[in-house]
Amino acid sequence: MAFPEIRPRRLRRTPALRAMVRETHLSPDDFIAPLFFDARLTVPLAIDAMPGQDRWPSGFAEQACAPLVEAGVRAVLLFGLPDAKDAVGSSGSRPDGVVQMAIRAIKHAFPDLYVITDVCLCEYTDHGHCGMLDGDTVDNDRTLPLLARQALSHVEAGADMVAPSDMMDGRVGALRAALDAEGHAGVPIMAYSAKYASAFYGPFREAAESTPAFGDRRSYQMDPGNAREALAEVALDLAEGADVVMVKPALPYLDVLRQVRDAVQCPVAAYNVSGEYSMIMAAARAGWIDEDRTIREVLTGIKRAGADLIISYHSLYAARQLRAGAWE
Ligand code: PBG
Repeated sequence: MAFPEIRPRRLRRTPALRAMVRETHLSPDDFIAPLFFDARLTVPLAIDAMPGQDRWPSGFAEQACAPLVEAGVRAVLLFGLPDAKDAVGSSGSRPDGVVQMAIRAIKHAFPDLYVITDVCLCEYTDHGHCGMLDGDTVDNDRTLPLLARQALSHVEAGADMVAPSDMMDGRVGALRAALDAEGHAGVPIMAYSAKYASAFYGPFREAAESTPAFGDRRSYQMDPGNAREALAEVALDLAEGADVVMVKPALPYLDVLRQVRDAVQCPVAAYNVSGEYSMIMAAARAGWIDEDRTIREVLTGIKRAGADLIISYHSLYAARQLRAGAWE
């Protein structure tokens, strides 16, 4: 049968019918909200390049999280801006470090909010690279214990899950071994498995002050042309003990997300990164696109492509819209 017997438009005639036949639904459960805590602040500071996002003093955990909890967002992903940096990022693993303090404050105020931490050296090194240096190259193997130490300090402060974003080879195994050795076998690892060397991290680097002082991250983050390599990275991370794998950024890599979703059994996360967020906010502020509809379409597309979890700066907005029934 074909036209005129078959008419796909029959199923698009009313809002009720469209909702009934919709294949992809968003839920507040899908979202993880990134938050930035800054040790040098006493009041929140707006991030210019990311309208609507702030850096928070570590004591402001309750103010930062209360709106998320109220909207039904279940998880946060923490980043830290320390008060001191050195060559090996030691401020990232101090028990009284900015992220560690924020974890404790969040867990105190909202014990059920699921706290995930980004594990990386770039916010804590004076050179801004994600690992320690040997000359002007990043020394993979000597970075691994530093990452493991940071992850352990997050878990000791109360983090529920750790998420290494550095792209060193072998870091998932190093974190798993360190956590297990200290009695934290129950803490899962979400690996930034397919993390591309992307221009879309631009606004984040303002938010986290983590721009490399020289060079770029192309010797450790992935080349945008590669998809098979993403599957290889995912397989390695799973073999090392990753519980959740991630594709990052989301929008230019939806094909990679779909391939990863089809290749593995574990949950797959997608990171809808800072540049993807800021493009929408900038265009909406200029009056060039409809902010609400664009956000909904982008998040739906990421979920349709295969994301079980969506890390997004739109999390609070999306959860509120869903709660209010505005996206039915
Ligand atoms: C740290 C890290 C980055 C992001 C998450 N973790 C920056 C980078 O690798 O340069 C990017 C997040 C975003 O752009 O929203 N390595």
